[in-house]
Amino acid sequence: MNATQLIAKKRDGHALTDDEIAWLIEGYVADRVPDYQMSAFAMAVYLRGMTNEETVALTRSMLNSGTILTWNRERPQRERPPRLKGVRYQLRLEGEWPKRVVDKHSTGGIGDKISLILAPLLATYRMRVPMISGRGLGPTGGTLDKLESIPGFRTDLATDEFQQVCNDVGCVISGATADLVPADRKLYALRDVTATVSCIPLITASVMSKKLAEGLDGLVLDVKHGSGAFMKTEEEARRLAESLVNVGNTLGVKTRALLTDMNQPLGRMIGNAVEVNEAIEVMQGGGPDDLRDLTLALGAEAMVAGGPFGTVFSTSRFIENALNGSNVYDMFRRMVAAQGGDLDALRVVAPASEITSTCSGFIQQIDCEALGYAVIELGGGRKVQADTIDHSVGIEMLVRIGDEVEAGQPVARMFANSRGREEAQAMIERAIVFGDEAVEPPVLIGERIT
Ligand code: URA
Repeated sequence: MNATQLIAKKRDGHALTDDEIAWLIEGYVADRVPDYQMSAFAMAVYLRGMTNEETVALTRSMLNSGTILTWNRERPQRERPPRLKGVRYQLRLEGEWPKRVVDKHSTGGIGDKISLILAPLLATYRMRVPMISGRGLGPTGGTLDKLESIPGFRTDLATDEFQQVCNDVGCVISGATADLVPADRKLYALRDVTATVSCIPLITASVMSKKLAEGLDGLVLDVKHGSGAFMKTEEEARRLAESLVNVGNTLGVKTRALLTDMNQPLGRMIGNAVEVNEAIEVMQGGGPDDLRDLTLALGAEAMVAGGPFGTVFSTSRFIENALNGSNVYDMFRRMVAAQGGDLDALRVVAPASEITSTCSGFIQQIDCEALGYAVIELGGGRKVQADTIDHSVGIEMLVRIGDEVEAGQPVARMFANSRGREEAQAMIERAIVFGDEAVEPPVLIGERIT
């Protein structure tokens, strides 16, 4: 085989075999295939697409480029799980061995702090949740950046410590280690500078190789569409979800996806410390309805995907109890402590100022992407890789699409230090679009793809 012939075959619209794809990826990771040939290959895939079989083969080859986590599925001797306060079905849960290994992946959005709540929620139901997360990407915030607003919290656990925390506590959230999917690290950096990121087969292989390397039984995907999402239309999101779900199921991990709306921020808070605070509110039985509803919907899907739970409907009904008790927050506390964080230490939030409406009318649209960029302007995200983050800044949204507002009414609250104040305020004002017509709010949770 030679790389030039394979690139030409793809360029001319022919499907590559599993062996050809494996040869290319192995060669790339071993530096036998240079960046310039891999760039040409990525562009050929971008322009020609891939069949489902090719996408599966690409994901498998990337997955096999590094370590794949394995979990002890033996029932420990005389294991007695702790009693869960206020949780019914205790007897049934005590009988559930081996502990299932499950996770959630979101394609990214504004105000999306669900991972912080979902990992401990699932662990409360005796699942293991080894969540490898990322940093902010473009306007969307990153789970690791949010967690680092907790003093002491470490997001750079080595693989053995990552597994240890997951086994001891039930959940762990940390960054990818160097030994997991090295093919993706190399290829993603190349795609970033060759305009080949937004390509469904390449996104699928990138996302799924990293998730499958966690050694999962079940996976739920939150595939977002709208002004704050990677995929702007529902149709694009559906095609991505179908591709992700097909690859997961073909490679032996029960995978399902929900298509969800990202035309307005999830919850009220956007930023880092403010999002951690809002996630804690939900874990303590409060918080905004949309955030609770989507957390429960994704939690039920993950539990059904990982088994042995029955239907999504019955599962979501009984996990709702957990958010109303103290178990999820206790579990989060244990995870934070195991990763070196101190939840009782002060998480600084920058001084607040209100942004008021200049006219009366209905909220027609919210440009979520612009709100994400406003947080970056305040210092809450990165413009270039080397930027340091100000965890204390952010935005609180006080209105949602369809709300009627009076002139002078506060529509948002900005938490800002001196960096980028004026620019960010102007961006927030422009992002909220008013009109005379009443509009229907978008439906948050759409189709399920299994
Ligand atoms: N996130 C990833 O991990 N990979 C992609 O290709 C796009 C988004």
